[in-house]
Amino acid sequence: MIGKYTKYAADLLRRGQLVAIPTETVYGLAGNALDVKAVSEIFSVKQRPSFDPLIIHLPDVASIEAYVAAFPDALLELARKFMPGPLTLLLPRSSLIPDLITAGSDRVAIRIPSHVVAQNLLHQLDFPLAAPSANPFGYISPTSAEHVAQQLGDKIPYILDGGPCVVGLESTIVGMEQNEITVYRKGGIPLEAIEAVIGKVKVRAHSTSNPNAPGMLKSHYAPRIPLRIGEVETFLKKFPKDRIGVLSFRKFKPDIPKAHQVCLSQSGDYKEAAQNLFASMRYLDSLALDLIVAELLPEEDLGTAINDRLRRAAA
Ligand code: TXA
Ligand code: MG
Repeated sequence: MIGKYTKYAADLLRRGQLVAIPTETVYGLAGNALDVKAVSEIFSVKQRPSFDPLIIHLPDVASIEAYVAAFPDALLELARKFMPGPLTLLLPRSSLIPDLITAGSDRVAIRIPSHVVAQNLLHQLDFPLAAPSANPFGYISPTSAEHVAQQLGDKIPYILDGGPCVVGLESTIVGMEQNEITVYRKGGIPLEAIEAVIGKVKVRAHSTSNPNAPGMLKSHYAPRIPLRIGEVETFLKKFPKDRIGVLSFRKFKPDIPKAHQVCLSQSGDYKEAAQNLFASMRYLDSLALDLIVAELLPEEDLGTAINDRLRRAAA
């Protein structure tokens, strides 16, 4: 059921049930992070392998303390600047965090969502919420309550509707590695914004197919219809023009039916493009097509994270 009752969602969560929740990045599949049964249920509903750890969500920076063994200064600086918001920090975990959450790692991923509904919900609870994106493992992340309902609607009791996600990309994941600040997943906070606060950082967000490494598996966010990156013209030699879908940044392609195309932002606005990305991939995936051809964005600002998702969808 889709609804707007935060109190009802809080009740279900207190009783150990799962609820899909809105955040500014993507919708999450939430359960009590301290309740091992609820956490296992998240893995099974999502069909997610248990080696892939979960992010815990808290209402504010002050509440992080209980769940971490230390808070390195540089990461605290990022927390002060970007939380609440689309940032996830990897911090040494305290003994309150179940092993299942971190997949045995000594670091826990923590995020403070800024979405008002998520904020309201988290403030009503006295435990953190474990929440991966509310999609079946490997598929495109949901950016609306309807997206969640399409795939998980019959598996969970409630989807808390907070409208379409305004960021539209998952959080940027940052931690420390041998004393160096490291970005493990490009996301809603651009690298440039992070570096403006703490200087040059290491980026390890790419091409990992090692399930133990943080960030994500290489093939991810994938539509069912094959997605390729490149110029439409090259594919027109092999596929009929009405069998190709196009995901472009600013301009429609003249040769392809308009109903089979999505332009992420005609004005070239990265925020708008990020907001539209996953819904556009879903739309194209719903059409009877043989192929989706996606165009990369300039490698700057949120364009970098969008390209990362497109490359993974193509992998
Ligand atoms: O924006 C977001 O981060 C959304 C919303 C719902 O908060 N959540 C999200 O969760 O994207 P998920 O589970 O789809 O992706 C979390 C990523 C995974 O790739 C996981 O491997 C990594 O974070 N991760 C979680 N805990 C970790 C840990 N302790 N160490 C390393 N990586 C971790
Ligand atoms: Mg995910």
